[in-house]
Amino acid sequence: MKKKVLNFKLNGDPMELLVSPEDTLLDVLRDQLGLTGTKKGCGKGECGACTVIMNGKSVNSCIVPALQAMDSEVETIEGIGTSEKLHPLQETFIDHGAIQCGFCTPGMIMSAKALLDQNLAPTRTEIKEAIAGNICRCTGYVKIEEAVQSAAEIMKNNKEQ
Ligand code: FES
Ligand code: FES
Repeated sequence: MKKKVLNFKLNGDPMELLVSPEDTLLDVLRDQLGLTGTKKGCGKGECGACTVIMNGKSVNSCIVPALQAMDSEVETIEGIGTSEKLHPLQETFIDHGAIQCGFCTPGMIMSAKALLDQNLAPTRTEIKEAIAGNICRCTGYVKIEEAVQSAAEIMKNNKEQ
């Protein structure tokens, strides 16, 4: 099918790309833009490995048609923190031992970030709900939930200072 121009903001930078109507947002991120931090697990919207934030909400990029991202703001794991200065979620995932194979981690962090961007005092239930679509087969969820709670506290303190 005929390619179309897609304009959107990615991690704060304007992008203009030619995409096919059948491309997913995940295809564009990984294959066209080389942003392989966003993982492909099931490819069917079931595992959460491909989670990115689009207009403030976490989405499974493997089932979002790329053209649906037109004029949107998309954030990927590459846009949060740097190796010199990690995002609080990245720090707390490491500190709490919430990463094992790490395949689910980028998606988990993006889901958690979408929550914390709206709510810096989430309950354990809210955290569980936010990451309910992200499957991790290694760690169990307790350490992950603790990491998100602890990142929320750090971010809240940083904001209040
Ligand atoms: S790869 Fe998208 S939900 Fe599994
Ligand atoms: S750390 Fe392995 S799947 Fe989550």
